[in-house]
Amino acid sequence: MSKPIPHHLHSFLFLLLLSSFSHPSHGDVGTSSQYSPPFLPTACYSYDPGQFPSSNLFAAAGNGIWDNGAACGRQYLVRCISAAEQGTCSDELIQVRIVDFALTAVSRPLIDGTTMVLSDTAFGTIANSSAASINIEFQQI
Ligand SMILES: *[C@@H]1O[C@H](CO)[C@@H](O)[C@H](O)[C@H]1NC(C)=O
Repeated sequence: MSKPIPHHLHSFLFLLLLSSFSHPSHGDVGTSSQYSPPFLPTACYSYDPGQFPSSNLFAAAGNGIWDNGAACGRQYLVRCISAAEQGTCSDELIQVRIVDFALTAVSRPLIDGTTMVLSDTAFGTIANSSAASINIEFQQI
């Protein structure tokens, strides 16, 4: 006969279940900075300035997601989860397309070494645009 699950473990499992339902996304966690025009993508050959997503919601991939260039054209759902200063994140969820490689981008990110460098429009949608970097949750779609 198996032992009954202790009561405190029951509550723990219940809370775990509850939190996974109230946070339906199961993305990765990383960091993000921003970059501004001129946007002259050089690393993704399929893009020139005239082919940018009209929403201006795009990003340059950092080393962690660049995937030897396979990242070009990939789309991610991104949201801001925290930042150095409280109140930096908005509640918005955005969809961005990778159009460049952050390490060679002509327009430099405010901070080097982040997972994903968002266009200023994209960054300003999910966070206070005066922040230099934020922590993000992201998921490829
Ligand atoms: C954005 O951040 C700056 C600098 O911390 C602050 O002065 C400003 O009030 C913030 N804007 C909003 C809309 O929270």
